[in-house]
Amino acid sequence: MAILTDFNQHHAWVTGATSQIGYFLLPRLQAVGFAVTALSRQARSNSADIIWQQADLLTSSLPITQPSVLFHLAPLPLLPPLLARLPAHAPLTRIIAFSSTSCFTKTASPDPKERAIAAQLTQAEKALINECQARGIAWTLFRPTLVYGCRLDKNVTFIAQFIRRFGFFPLLGRGTGLRQPVHADDLAAACIQVCIEPKTTNKAYNLSGGETLEYRDMVKAIFQHLEQKPRIISIPLPLFKMMTFFLRWLPAYAHLSAAMIARMNQDLCFEHTTAYHDFGYQPRMFSHNDMGFTCQPIKH
Ligand SMILES: NC(=O)c1ccc[n+]([C@@H]2O[C@H](COP(=O)([O-])OP(=O)(O)OC[C@H]3O[C@@H](n4cnc5c(N)ncnc54)[C@H](OP(=O)(O)O)[C@@H]3O)[C@@H](O)[C@H]2O)c1
Repeated sequence: MAILTDFNQHHAWVTGATSQIGYFLLPRLQAVGFAVTALSRQARSNSADIIWQQADLLTSSLPITQPSVLFHLAPLPLLPPLLARLPAHAPLTRIIAFSSTSCFTKTASPDPKERAIAAQLTQAEKALINECQARGIAWTLFRPTLVYGCRLDKNVTFIAQFIRRFGFFPLLGRGTGLRQPVHADDLAAACIQVCIEPKTTNKAYNLSGGETLEYRDMVKAIFQHLEQKPRIISIPLPLFKMMTFFLRWLPAYAHLSAAMIARMNQDLCFEHTTAYHDFGYQPRMFSHNDMGFTCQPIKH
């Protein structure tokens, strides 16, 4: 069964449930009537409506015994081997899984690690589709752009933390690369929307945010939300590289790379019109929403 008409009849499994998308998806699944099992590598206490299961997806199997939908929010390369370990007749009818537009934007990155990530994502998408076809499972793949929304991201939240700590934000050159930040709650809503829309089975969608703006303007909007006057400093590449080299010694900045900085002037834009036509996807604007700064801290 590809299309769900009665959510009460299906169990929802959520991998990567502690992610920012999971933060918004779990209550949405409960609201529409799913019984939910959420997975994490850490042990967590069950709540009234959510069963938490401790599992490392690298090695574990899903004990699926009743008609189920899998919402896969964990890294995509973990999914095809997880499915391969599933018994042949497990009643899993539908998968909604997250890939990333990085599979397009990082293919030509100067950083070999980023090129490897892009290749792994593309390979995982193909393997997922093959595994689903072989097992008769209906699939939908989402490729979001830059995700934010509850202070768990390394983009908007990182910029906000940098501004709070140093009072300014550095940009390479003018920082004119276009961005389309997408709120994690809009992605969570999309997960529910595709469950009831037949057109969305066996399709992949690029899911960008509702506003396209220059990196520079994204940073300015964050300053405004923090109620601070924008103090943006343009820095040349050699100085930026030196600054990054030293910052990377601190855990909060360990993820920074030269390729990431170079992208500040590259457009990373994707249409989401197919998603709009197929299931009414209408993501919110970036400016003028709360950017997640009012979310309650999450304890993992
Ligand atoms: N962040 C972005 O800007 C962005 C952009 C495009 C696409 N995406 C994709 O969207 C999805 C969600 O991204 P995100 O940034 O919200 O989440 P994330 O920070 O990448 O978190 C991923 C989740 O996966 C779980 N996980 C990782 N390895 C695992 C393992 N071996 N076994 C079990 N669980 C594992 C983690 O749960 P535990 O730590 O609780 O085990 C965590 O909750 C991912 O597929 C990501 O690639 C993200």
